[in-house]
Amino acid sequence: MKSIELLKKARKGKYAIGQFNVSTDEQIKAIVEAAKDLKSPIIIGTSESEREFIGTKQVVALVETWKRETGLPIILNADHCKSFESAKEAIDSGYPAINIDASSLPFEENIKLTKQVADYAENKNPDIIVEGELGYLRGSSEIHKEKIEIKEEDLTDPKQAREFIERTGIDSLAVVIGNTHGIETEKEPHLFLDRLKKIQKAAPDTFLVLHGGSKTPEEDIRQAIKLGIVKININTELRIAYSDALEKEIKEHPDELKPYKILAPAVEETKKIVVEKIKLFGSEGGV
Ligand code: G3H
Ligand code: ZN
Repeated sequence: MKSIELLKKARKGKYAIGQFNVSTDEQIKAIVEAAKDLKSPIIIGTSESEREFIGTKQVVALVETWKRETGLPIILNADHCKSFESAKEAIDSGYPAINIDASSLPFEENIKLTKQVADYAENKNPDIIVEGELGYLRGSSEIHKEKIEIKEEDLTDPKQAREFIERTGIDSLAVVIGNTHGIETEKEPHLFLDRLKKIQKAAPDTFLVLHGGSKTPEEDIRQAIKLGIVKININTELRIAYSDALEKEIKEHPDELKPYKILAPAVEETKKIVVEKIKLFGSEGGV
């Protein structure tokens, strides 16, 4: 099945597919095990730094191998590519999905770079999913002790979204609707669902993506899916589960030397988060 068909199926079934970010192969193992147990489609994401660590061609091969072995629909997405060269490297290496994130650039420049990547992908392989980004998404995938102020002008503008989609030819759009990257200790995130409704109305055929999914209140997630979100990105919660489990294991068993034993709890804890998210997103049984 073409990757885009998975998003179409999600839209029809009124669920979202989770994108889970990784930089190591045991994280992929944990995510795939969760998807296998729950018979769910999944997306594996790698940011530029994550991709650099695990290896661009290596992660393509790893995900391909898991796909073949499990028969599961798994999409590998090159997350937050900040330049044409970065997107090109991922496309040339066989990624079936790309997120070109030129959202920090002025509108016209965002269109120009996003279109350049969309055209390149279309030429190389028309089945590649291209996700663009519009609006200013604050934060990064870590714990933020200070409050992140979201300004009105950060949010995705529905009219601009329509123009952006028409002029770039993207398949999906990452929106800014109150979401931020990372987890804030000072306040609970809150999605502006009215804004999402307007974006969906302005761009009914585009797959809408929610970044910064960690710790977003469950009810907001459910409502966002009802209003057209078909892909939700999770990273910080996975990072915390992994590093907490690793730290605990090393503290409790300081003489253990076998990496497969030291890392086993980190895999288990990562898997628990993925299971929780698959259930929340409603993609269980979506295979
Ligand atoms: O692209 C990755 C995600 O947007 C992750 O966001 O770290 O807040 O879960 P998060
Ligand atoms: Zn993101």
